[in-house]
Amino acid sequence: MGINLGDVFPNFEADTTAGRIKFHEWLGNSWGILCSHPADYTPVCTTELGRMAKLASEFQKRNVKMIALSIDSVQDHHGWTKDINAYIGASNVEKLPFPIIADEKRELAVQLGMLDPSERNKEGLPLTARAVFVIGPDKTLKLSILYPATTGRNFDEILRVIDSLQLTAYKKVATPVDWKAGGDCMVLPSISEEDAKKLFPKGIQMQELPSSKKYLRFTPHP
Ligand code: BEZ
Repeated sequence: MGINLGDVFPNFEADTTAGRIKFHEWLGNSWGILCSHPADYTPVCTTELGRMAKLASEFQKRNVKMIALSIDSVQDHHGWTKDINAYIGASNVEKLPFPIIADEKRELAVQLGMLDPSERNKEGLPLTARAVFVIGPDKTLKLSILYPATTGRNFDEILRVIDSLQLTAYKKVATPVDWKAGGDCMVLPSISEEDAKKLFPKGIQMQELPSSKKYLRFTPHP
């Protein structure tokens, strides 16, 4: 099983460190990011959740609610939370600025296609890969990235992608390679030259190409 871009993200019910949630109700009208983790009390995951906690205000600024998932119990999550907070030097070790889902039976891991058969626990059961799901306010999947358990995520890249997803959701542009918020954007190929002039009053810079095709059109961040 798995989930594709554009699919409605499952409205699952789960126990979390912030109590039982129904995903769509928990999300409300916000964007959301769900990050899964192989297990509690593991080194890479501890650095990742610490970084997520430190970046909470960046996600909040972008109206993105954060949630993590690991295959251990709520009780384990509470114990692990203290280690994560100690690692980042937080003053309150009891709480993280986002809930952690307890997926002890791996039901969500299976439903969302997150199991990594090449990484197994002591009992031989596959661990959860490092999935990143970004969900829009319309509850559909906007982005998914799947990392193996042995490779930690890059949260600068994740914030960069969210900036692009949010910009391109509302403006008729795409973002080029290595784009960062504020950088020049590309006019969508589906927009005619005439419409582009009206839509992008800041101007369009078209690059001449050997093919003479007029598709490489840059415009300042709208
Ligand atoms: C970790 O989070 O450090 C980890 C978990 C499972 C396999 C490898 C690394």
